Amino acid sequence: MVTLNVNGQMHDVDAPPDMPVLWVLRDLVGLTGTKFGCGIAQCGACTVHLDGAAVRSCVLPVGAVGNRAITTIEAVGATPAGQKVQAAWRELDVVQCGYCQSGQVMQAALLLAENPHPTDADIDAAMAGNLCRCGTYNRIRAAVKLAAKEA
Ligand code: FES
Ligand code: FES
Repeated sequence: MVTLNVNGQMHDVDAPPDMPVLWVLRDLVGLTGTKFGCGIAQCGACTVHLDGAAVRSCVLPVGAVGNRAITTIEAVGATPAGQKVQAAWRELDVVQCGYCQSGQVMQAALLLAENPHPTDADIDAAMAGNLCRCGTYNRIRAAVKLAAKEA
């Protein structure tokens, strides 16, 4: 049994220590907003926050989390940066198919939490590991800028 702090709530989950956090969240905790894309830390679809850092949950064994706090897309809107990012995403209609977007929002929220007024280069560097097969990159960049303006 592993006890996890997810979005401010404690969950006891019956998971082997090497089970990736992505599958614990989706299959055992019931939070399906975090997506599986590649499974090898190459696409960013599975991004969650771990004590304020962006991590790829597809390669993070649940046994390595300890008492650190996990935040997922289901709760990031309750943070100041996450709220601004989600509002900007809606305003600019960033989403196309949507599959990558939970990871994009998590990554962008962390960027703004750490750097409220990022340059284009900062945005590109922070978002470079989050792939979008629909090619929404221009709208993502514009939405990060809009969110930063309102920060
Ligand atoms: S599913 Fe984790 S980085 Fe692609
Ligand atoms: S919106 Fe479709 S993969 Fe990004």
